[in-house]
Amino acid sequence: MAVPFFDITRQNRSFQPQLDQVIKASVDSGRYILGQTVADFEQAAAGFCGTKHAIGVASGTDALHLALRACGIGPGDEVITTAFTFVATIEAIIYCGAKPVFADIEPKTFNIEPRSVTSIINKKTKAILPVSLYGQTPDMQNLLSICDKRGLRLVEDACQAIGAEQNGTKSGAFGDAGCFSFFPTKNLGCFGDGGLITTNNGNLADECRVLRGHGSREMYKYEMIGYNSRLDALQAAILHVKLPKLDDFSHNRRINAEFYRKNLVNIAEISLPTEAKGCKHVYNQFTLRVKERDKLVAHLRSKNIGSMVYYPLALHLHQAYSYLGFKKGDLPETEKAQTEVMSLPIFPELTESELAEVVSAIKEFYKK
Ligand SMILES: Cc1ncc(COP(=O)(O)O)c(C=O)c1O
Repeated sequence: MAVPFFDITRQNRSFQPQLDQVIKASVDSGRYILGQTVADFEQAAAGFCGTKHAIGVASGTDALHLALRACGIGPGDEVITTAFTFVATIEAIIYCGAKPVFADIEPKTFNIEPRSVTSIINKKTKAILPVSLYGQTPDMQNLLSICDKRGLRLVEDACQAIGAEQNGTKSGAFGDAGCFSFFPTKNLGCFGDGGLITTNNGNLADECRVLRGHGSREMYKYEMIGYNSRLDALQAAILHVKLPKLDDFSHNRRINAEFYRKNLVNIAEISLPTEAKGCKHVYNQFTLRVKERDKLVAHLRSKNIGSMVYYPLALHLHQAYSYLGFKKGDLPETEKAQTEVMSLPIFPELTESELAEVVSAIKEFYKK
């Protein structure tokens, strides 16, 4: 049996009548950018994340860029982040004219390691940009206390982690701002690109709103150099239909994760993902560390079972970012992870027989 790595059409089918209705209403409305539909979704999303404000933007990349700019990050500044992430995390820093500086990761959670962060703080450091990789928040308590002591801003890259929690606080509600992506493969996905900034800071929210609309509050009056980064009404309407079901999606992802845990626990060649103390992982990805990763990926592919490697090469080792001055060997845990990680299908609508198929193919590979 073939098992897809991801299939959004199954989820769409479960919402078909509501989606058809809001898409038609959106087309008929004649109002396609921002407007009440986006404002309504923003309010619901802020309520979900437990923040005072939410600002819809064109993508997760833009959410990061605008949030950093609204935090005052600019030329000459350094922002500490991880090299084990999607490229957009550091693009956003660079778009602000600032420099990404890489801390190493914790081997168990793949997230930024607070002591490694402390060791690279200097006078130029203005912010920390932790990524909640695969759907789990990093050690926010320690990161926030570092920011407090050193007077740094904290912007969360929560693009993979909507709905994740740490000690009762939701992703997006920890620092100065939280940034989300609604790219279709995310836990809450739309039918194209979309993103969101969450914050409890009214001034920051206001600046993000102005920045997303060409730096203008009043038509043809420009307060600052802005961007065209607005969320479409159609995407907001689709997201608003799906948002009330997000906790159910996360629940199903967690059940799928439990299935894998139970059935793969005895394979010595596999390290299962760790749920850190106090954390609720929402498994945008279920990521293993394995021996002979590339061979296992090829074995699953030969059986038509989807898997992915996020990420095969950490960002500091790419040609485009060599100018940052990092080299091989600088981030040992990051560089080890890139050779061992692989993600299994985990999307909420997978059937138990599909999960069993994945498990049996892995067992066959390790001859268990
Ligand atoms: C960690 C991370 N940061 C940023 C982004 C950028 O989001 P988008 O693709 O919506 O621009 C993504 C997703 O693609 C991501 O996974």
